[in-house]
Amino acid sequence: MGVLISSSILNADLSNLGFELRRAEDAGADMIHIDVMDGVFTPSITFGDFVVKKLRPHTALPFDTHLMVSDPTKLIPLFAEAGSDIITIHEESDCDVAECLKLIRSYGKKAGISLNPETEVQKIFPYLPLCDVVLIMSVKPGAGGQTFQLEAIEKIKAVREEADRLGLNIDISVDGGINDITAPLTFRAGANIAVVGTYLLNSEDMVGAMLSIRVARL
Ligand code: DX5
Ligand code: ZN
Repeated sequence: MGVLISSSILNADLSNLGFELRRAEDAGADMIHIDVMDGVFTPSITFGDFVVKKLRPHTALPFDTHLMVSDPTKLIPLFAEAGSDIITIHEESDCDVAECLKLIRSYGKKAGISLNPETEVQKIFPYLPLCDVVLIMSVKPGAGGQTFQLEAIEKIKAVREEADRLGLNIDISVDGGINDITAPLTFRAGANIAVVGTYLLNSEDMVGAMLSIRVARL
């Protein structure tokens, strides 16, 4: 099974997002990762549902929406209607996590759960049957360009093991500090989606950079 690359626009040229989406699509991205920050769960504020709606016509790629917000309950319907395809919430959010995951699926969207580096992986196990995707944070949420935290590897292994034990076909995505060196470690541990931001955006050859992540799985 090949891996999927979710291209993060957090550190892209935000004054030219239509161009950035086409650039990622042309370079071979499988989806677009949109980091939603609310200024409470994270210090910064980024994209809202209006932005997602306006971006929707600019690419055919699925939108992988990562809600780093304190309470996603009221936002889920807005992002679902704006055109998100995967909606991921955080275990640490101040909400009924199981209800939120069900709400996401009720819109016909893929439901994801994420956890911060300091959160024990076992905390998300009860929610696995309600999830299509587990997004392991390999950096502290809030900014691109940080260094991959190796502790993420054990978490990936643990989630893959638990999902297999439960007979669940779950995607495992890794977010933060992914490049051609760190990606292979995550794939070997059981991840199949790489969220990649800075590594792609800083590369002089985005097609080559995308390939360097993909071949890591071969
Ligand atoms: C961090 C975000 C990440 C970030 C990844 O809070 O969730 O999606 O954009 O960017 P890089 O690849 O630069 O670590
Ligand atoms: Zn993210």
